Amino acid sequence: MSIQQMTVIGAGQMGAGIAQVAAQAGLSVRLHDLSEKQVEQGIAVIANNLARQVEKGRMEEREWAAVLERLQGEVDLEKAAGQADIVVEAVVENLAVKTDLFRRLDAICPAHAILASNTSSLPITEIAAVTKRPEHVIGMHFMNPVPVMKLVEVIRGLATSEAVFQAVEALARDLGKTPVEVNDFPGFISNRILMPMINEAIYALYEGVADKEAIDEVMKLGMNHPMGPLTLADFIGLDTCLFIMETLHEGFGDSKYRPCPLLRKYVKAGWLGRKTGRGFYTYE
Ligand code: NAI
Repeated sequence: MSIQQMTVIGAGQMGAGIAQVAAQAGLSVRLHDLSEKQVEQGIAVIANNLARQVEKGRMEEREWAAVLERLQGEVDLEKAAGQADIVVEAVVENLAVKTDLFRRLDAICPAHAILASNTSSLPITEIAAVTKRPEHVIGMHFMNPVPVMKLVEVIRGLATSEAVFQAVEALARDLGKTPVEVNDFPGFISNRILMPMINEAIYALYEGVADKEAIDEVMKLGMNHPMGPLTLADFIGLDTCLFIMETLHEGFGDSKYRPCPLLRKYVKAGWLGRKTGRGFYTYE
Protein backbone atom coordinates (compact mmCIF):
# COMPACT_ATOMS: atom_id res chain seq x y z
CA MET A 1 0.00 0.00 0.00
CA SER A 2 1.68 3.19 -1.13
CA ILE A 3 0.68 6.34 0.73
CA GLN A 4 1.57 9.58 -1.07
CA GLN A 5 -1.48 11.76 -0.58
CA MET A 6 -2.89 12.49 2.88
CA THR A 7 -6.01 14.47 3.67
CA VAL A 8 -6.36 15.85 7.19
CA ILE A 9 -9.87 16.80 8.32
CA GLY A 10 -9.97 19.47 11.05
CA ALA A 11 -7.34 22.21 11.12
CA GLY A 12 -7.32 22.68 14.91
CA GLN A 13 -4.39 21.97 17.19
CA MET A 14 -4.14 18.26 16.31
CA GLY A 15 -5.05 18.47 12.61
CA ALA A 16 -2.52 21.24 11.96
CA GLY A 17 0.18 19.23 13.78
CA ILE A 18 -0.58 16.06 11.80
CA ALA A 19 -0.59 17.97 8.49
CA GLN A 20 2.75 19.54 9.42
CA VAL A 21 4.58 16.27 10.21
CA ALA A 22 3.12 14.59 7.11
CA ALA A 23 4.23 17.45 4.81
CA GLN A 24 7.65 17.46 6.49
CA ALA A 25 7.94 13.72 5.81
CA GLY A 26 7.37 14.37 2.08
CA LEU A 27 3.68 13.54 1.70
CA SER A 28 1.36 15.72 -0.30
CA VAL A 29 -1.21 17.00 2.20
CA ARG A 30 -4.64 18.59 1.93
CA LEU A 31 -5.96 20.24 5.06
CA HIS A 32 -9.72 20.64 5.37
CA ASP A 33 -11.93 22.46 7.87
CA LEU A 34 -15.44 23.94 7.91
CA SER A 35 -14.44 27.45 6.81
CA GLU A 36 -11.69 29.24 4.88
CA LYS A 37 -10.81 31.09 8.07
CA GLN A 38 -10.18 27.88 10.03
CA VAL A 39 -8.15 26.35 7.19
CA GLU A 40 -6.05 29.53 6.91
CA GLN A 41 -5.52 29.59 10.67
CA GLY A 42 -4.29 26.00 10.59
CA ILE A 43 -1.86 26.73 7.78
CA ALA A 44 -0.66 29.90 9.55
CA VAL A 45 0.07 27.85 12.69
CA ILE A 46 2.13 25.41 10.62
CA ALA A 47 4.00 28.23 8.81
CA ASN A 48 4.86 29.82 12.17
CA ASN A 49 6.04 26.52 13.64
CA LEU A 50 8.30 25.96 10.66
CA ALA A 51 9.56 29.58 10.75
CA ARG A 52 10.63 28.97 14.36
CA GLN A 53 12.57 25.90 13.20
CA VAL A 54 14.33 28.06 10.59
CA GLU A 55 15.11 30.73 13.21
CA LYS A 56 16.63 28.11 15.48
CA GLY A 57 18.76 26.81 12.59
CA ARG A 58 17.02 23.43 12.61
CA MET A 59 15.60 23.83 9.11
CA GLU A 60 16.81 25.52 5.94
CA GLU A 61 14.59 28.20 4.42
CA ARG A 62 14.46 26.21 1.19
CA GLU A 63 13.03 23.23 3.06
CA TRP A 64 10.47 25.45 4.78
CA ALA A 65 9.20 26.60 1.37
CA ALA A 66 9.17 23.02 0.05
CA VAL A 67 7.14 21.78 3.03
CA LEU A 68 4.58 24.57 2.59
CA GLU A 69 4.34 23.78 -1.10
CA ARG A 70 3.30 20.20 -0.28
CA LEU A 71 0.51 21.57 1.89
CA GLN A 72 -2.77 22.78 0.49
CA GLY A 73 -5.84 24.10 2.30
CA GLU A 74 -9.21 22.96 0.88
CA VAL A 75 -12.60 23.84 2.30
CA ASP A 76 -14.51 21.67 -0.21
CA LEU A 77 -14.57 18.14 1.26
CA GLU A 78 -14.88 16.41 -2.13
CA LYS A 79 -11.85 18.20 -3.51
CA ALA A 80 -9.96 17.70 -0.26
CA ALA A 81 -10.47 13.93 -0.02
CA GLY A 82 -11.26 12.81 -3.59
CA GLN A 83 -7.71 11.61 -4.30
CA ALA A 84 -6.53 10.65 -0.85
CA ASP A 85 -4.59 7.47 -0.11
CA ILE A 86 -5.30 8.11 3.56
CA VAL A 87 -7.59 10.47 5.43
CA VAL A 88 -6.77 11.36 9.02
CA GLU A 89 -9.79 12.81 10.77
CA ALA A 90 -9.09 15.24 13.66
CA VAL A 91 -12.41 17.03 14.24
CA VAL A 92 -14.19 17.59 17.54
CA GLU A 93 -14.40 14.55 19.88
CA ASN A 94 -18.06 13.81 19.17
CA LEU A 95 -19.29 10.48 17.82
CA ALA A 96 -22.21 11.90 15.81
CA VAL A 97 -19.94 14.43 14.05
CA LYS A 98 -17.34 11.77 13.31
CA THR A 99 -19.78 9.13 12.02
CA ASP A 100 -21.45 11.70 9.77
CA LEU A 101 -18.05 12.63 8.38
CA PHE A 102 -16.94 9.01 7.83
CA ARG A 103 -20.17 8.27 5.97
CA ARG A 104 -19.43 11.17 3.62
CA LEU A 105 -15.75 10.27 3.27
CA ASP A 106 -16.68 6.69 2.38
CA ALA A 107 -18.68 8.00 -0.58
CA ILE A 108 -15.98 10.49 -1.68
CA CYS A 109 -12.66 8.68 -1.24
CA PRO A 110 -11.06 6.21 -3.68
CA ALA A 111 -11.78 2.54 -2.88
CA HIS A 112 -8.22 1.89 -1.71
CA ALA A 113 -8.16 4.84 0.72
CA ILE A 114 -7.61 4.23 4.43
CA LEU A 115 -9.89 6.21 6.74
CA ALA A 116 -8.14 6.90 10.03
CA SER A 117 -9.44 8.70 13.09
CA ASN A 118 -7.31 10.63 15.57
CA THR A 119 -10.05 10.18 18.18
CA SER A 120 -8.81 10.15 21.78
CA SER A 121 -11.40 7.73 23.06
CA LEU A 122 -14.31 6.98 20.71
CA PRO A 123 -14.97 3.46 19.36
CA ILE A 124 -13.20 2.85 16.03
CA THR A 125 -15.45 -0.18 15.44
CA GLU A 126 -18.58 1.97 15.65
CA ILE A 127 -17.11 4.66 13.37
CA ALA A 128 -16.08 1.93 10.89
CA ALA A 129 -19.56 0.39 10.92
CA VAL A 130 -21.14 3.42 9.20
CA THR A 131 -18.88 2.88 6.16
CA LYS A 132 -18.89 0.19 3.48
CA ARG A 133 -15.17 -0.37 4.10
CA PRO A 134 -14.80 -1.18 7.83
CA GLU A 135 -11.61 -3.15 7.08
CA HIS A 136 -10.06 0.14 5.87
CA VAL A 137 -10.92 2.08 9.04
CA ILE A 138 -8.42 2.42 11.88
CA GLY A 139 -7.44 4.63 14.82
CA MET A 140 -4.30 6.71 14.43
CA HIS A 141 -4.02 8.55 17.72
CA PHE A 142 -1.28 11.20 17.75
CA MET A 143 -0.19 13.01 20.90
CA ASN A 144 -0.15 16.76 21.47
CA PRO A 145 1.95 18.63 20.33
CA VAL A 146 2.20 16.37 17.28
CA PRO A 147 5.56 17.62 15.93
CA VAL A 148 7.21 16.91 19.32
CA MET A 149 5.56 13.77 20.72
CA LYS A 150 6.87 10.42 19.54
CA LEU A 151 3.89 8.13 20.22
CA VAL A 152 1.14 7.12 17.83
CA GLU A 153 -1.39 4.71 19.33
CA VAL A 154 -2.60 2.56 16.43
CA ILE A 155 -6.04 1.19 17.22
CA ARG A 156 -7.43 -1.87 15.51
CA GLY A 157 -11.18 -1.80 15.05
CA LEU A 158 -12.92 -5.18 15.09
CA ALA A 159 -12.86 -5.34 11.28
CA THR A 160 -9.54 -3.55 10.54
CA SER A 161 -7.50 -5.63 8.07
CA GLU A 162 -3.93 -6.71 8.76
CA ALA A 163 -2.74 -4.93 5.58
CA VAL A 164 -4.27 -1.64 6.69
CA PHE A 165 -2.85 -2.04 10.19
CA GLN A 166 0.63 -2.63 8.78
CA ALA A 167 0.37 0.28 6.33
CA VAL A 168 -0.56 2.66 9.15
CA GLU A 169 2.19 1.34 11.40
CA ALA A 170 4.70 1.91 8.58
CA LEU A 171 3.30 5.39 7.92
CA ALA A 172 3.68 6.31 11.60
CA ARG A 173 7.36 5.29 11.38
CA ASP A 174 7.81 7.30 8.17
CA LEU A 175 6.48 10.32 10.07
CA GLY A 176 9.22 9.80 12.65
CA LYS A 177 6.88 8.37 15.27
CA THR A 178 6.79 5.15 17.28
CA PRO A 179 3.55 3.22 16.72
CA VAL A 180 2.09 1.17 19.58
CA GLU A 181 -0.67 -1.34 18.89
CA VAL A 182 -3.81 -1.15 21.01
CA ASN A 183 -7.24 -2.77 20.80
CA ASP A 184 -10.48 -0.86 20.54
CA PHE A 185 -11.87 -0.11 24.02
CA PRO A 186 -12.98 3.27 25.40
CA GLY A 187 -10.01 5.61 25.86
CA PHE A 188 -7.65 2.93 24.43
CA ILE A 189 -4.60 2.86 26.74
CA SER A 190 -3.43 6.49 26.81
CA ASN A 191 -6.66 8.14 27.90
CA ARG A 192 -7.98 5.24 29.94
CA ILE A 193 -5.07 5.89 32.28
CA LEU A 194 -4.35 9.61 31.80
CA MET A 195 -7.85 11.06 31.86
CA PRO A 196 -9.08 9.54 35.18
CA MET A 197 -5.91 11.00 36.72
CA ILE A 198 -6.71 14.45 35.33
CA ASN A 199 -10.36 14.09 36.42
CA GLU A 200 -9.19 13.12 39.94
CA ALA A 201 -6.95 16.22 40.06
CA ILE A 202 -10.03 18.33 39.17
CA TYR A 203 -11.98 16.58 41.97
CA ALA A 204 -9.17 17.43 44.40
CA LEU A 205 -9.46 21.08 43.37
CA TYR A 206 -13.30 20.95 43.54
CA GLU A 207 -13.20 19.47 47.05
CA GLY A 208 -10.69 22.08 48.22
CA VAL A 209 -7.97 19.55 49.04
CA ALA A 210 -5.39 21.96 47.63
CA ASP A 211 -5.21 24.90 45.23
CA LYS A 212 -4.41 24.39 41.55
CA GLU A 213 -0.76 25.36 41.81
CA ALA A 214 -0.25 22.94 44.73
CA ILE A 215 -1.91 20.05 42.85
CA ASP A 216 0.28 20.63 39.80
CA GLU A 217 3.42 21.06 41.92
CA VAL A 218 2.86 17.77 43.79
CA MET A 219 2.55 15.82 40.54
CA LYS A 220 5.51 17.60 38.92
CA LEU A 221 7.98 17.38 41.77
CA GLY A 222 6.65 14.24 43.40
CA MET A 223 5.97 12.08 40.36
CA ASN A 224 8.41 13.67 37.92
CA HIS A 225 5.62 14.58 35.48
CA PRO A 226 6.82 17.31 33.08
CA MET A 227 3.52 19.16 33.52
CA GLY A 228 0.93 19.14 36.34
CA PRO A 229 -2.46 17.54 35.52
CA LEU A 230 -4.41 20.83 35.55
CA THR A 231 -1.89 22.52 33.25
CA LEU A 232 -2.07 19.45 31.01
CA ALA A 233 -5.89 19.57 31.00
CA ASP A 234 -5.74 23.22 29.84
CA PHE A 235 -3.30 22.19 27.15
CA ILE A 236 -5.45 19.29 25.88
CA GLY A 237 -8.65 21.39 26.00
CA LEU A 238 -11.27 21.01 28.74
CA ASP A 239 -14.01 20.21 26.21
CA THR A 240 -11.92 17.31 24.91
CA CYS A 241 -11.23 16.14 28.50
CA LEU A 242 -14.97 16.16 29.24
CA PHE A 243 -15.82 14.30 26.02
CA ILE A 244 -13.27 11.62 26.90
CA MET A 245 -14.54 11.21 30.48
CA GLU A 246 -18.09 10.89 29.13
CA THR A 247 -16.94 8.20 26.69
CA LEU A 248 -15.23 6.24 29.50
CA HIS A 249 -18.25 6.66 31.79
CA GLU A 250 -20.71 5.52 29.15
CA GLY A 251 -18.47 2.85 27.65
CA PHE A 252 -17.66 1.06 30.92
CA GLY A 253 -20.82 2.01 32.86
CA ASP A 254 -18.65 2.45 35.96
CA SER A 255 -19.14 5.41 38.31
CA LYS A 256 -15.39 5.68 38.83
CA TYR A 257 -15.27 7.46 35.47
CA ARG A 258 -17.91 10.13 36.27
CA PRO A 259 -16.73 13.55 35.04
CA CYS A 260 -16.10 16.07 37.82
CA PRO A 261 -18.89 18.73 38.03
CA LEU A 262 -16.21 21.45 38.08
CA LEU A 263 -14.97 20.25 34.67
CA ARG A 264 -18.52 20.48 33.31
CA LYS A 265 -18.92 23.96 34.75
CA TYR A 266 -15.74 25.24 33.11
CA VAL A 267 -16.76 23.80 29.74
CA LYS A 268 -20.24 25.38 30.04
CA ALA A 269 -18.56 28.71 30.80
CA GLY A 270 -16.51 28.40 27.62
CA TRP A 271 -13.30 28.14 29.66
CA LEU A 272 -11.73 25.48 27.50
CA GLY A 273 -8.09 26.02 28.45
CA ARG A 274 -5.23 27.41 26.43
CA LYS A 275 -7.19 27.56 23.16
CA THR A 276 -9.74 30.03 24.59
CA GLY A 277 -7.26 31.91 26.82
CA ARG A 278 -8.79 30.62 30.04
CA GLY A 279 -9.17 27.28 31.76
CA PHE A 280 -7.77 26.43 35.19
CA TYR A 281 -5.16 29.10 34.40
CA THR A 282 -5.32 32.20 32.20
CA TYR A 283 -3.25 32.67 29.03
CA GLU A 284 -2.40 35.72 26.95
P1 NAI B 1 -9.70 21.60 18.08
O1 NAI B 1 -10.93 22.13 18.71
O2 NAI B 1 -8.42 22.34 18.24
O3 NAI B 1 -9.92 21.40 16.49
C1 NAI B 1 -11.01 20.75 15.92
C2 NAI B 1 -11.23 21.32 14.52
O4 NAI B 1 -12.17 20.52 13.82
C3 NAI B 1 -11.77 22.76 14.52
O5 NAI B 1 -10.95 23.58 13.71
C4 NAI B 1 -13.18 22.61 13.93
O6 NAI B 1 -13.59 23.71 13.15
C5 NAI B 1 -13.00 21.37 13.06
N1 NAI B 1 -14.25 20.67 12.76
C6 NAI B 1 -15.29 20.38 13.59
N2 NAI B 1 -16.25 19.69 12.92
C7 NAI B 1 -15.81 19.54 11.66
C8 NAI B 1 -16.33 18.91 10.49
N3 NAI B 1 -17.50 18.29 10.51
N4 NAI B 1 -15.60 18.94 9.36
C9 NAI B 1 -14.40 19.54 9.32
N5 NAI B 1 -13.84 20.16 10.40
C10 NAI B 1 -14.54 20.15 11.54
O7 NAI B 1 -9.56 20.09 18.62
P2 NAI B 1 -8.24 19.18 18.73
O8 NAI B 1 -7.65 19.34 20.08
O9 NAI B 1 -7.41 19.38 17.53
O10 NAI B 1 -8.89 17.72 18.72
C11 NAI B 1 -9.30 17.10 17.52
C12 NAI B 1 -9.39 15.60 17.72
O11 NAI B 1 -8.11 15.10 18.14
C13 NAI B 1 -10.41 15.15 18.76
O12 NAI B 1 -10.97 13.93 18.35
C14 NAI B 1 -9.54 14.94 19.99
O13 NAI B 1 -10.09 14.03 20.90
C15 NAI B 1 -8.27 14.38 19.36
N6 NAI B 1 -7.05 14.52 20.15
C16 NAI B 1 -6.82 15.67 20.87
C17 NAI B 1 -5.66 15.78 21.62
C18 NAI B 1 -5.41 17.03 22.41
O14 NAI B 1 -4.47 17.04 23.24
N7 NAI B 1 -6.15 18.10 22.21
C19 NAI B 1 -4.65 14.72 21.68
C20 NAI B 1 -4.95 13.59 20.82
C21 NAI B 1 -6.13 13.51 20.10
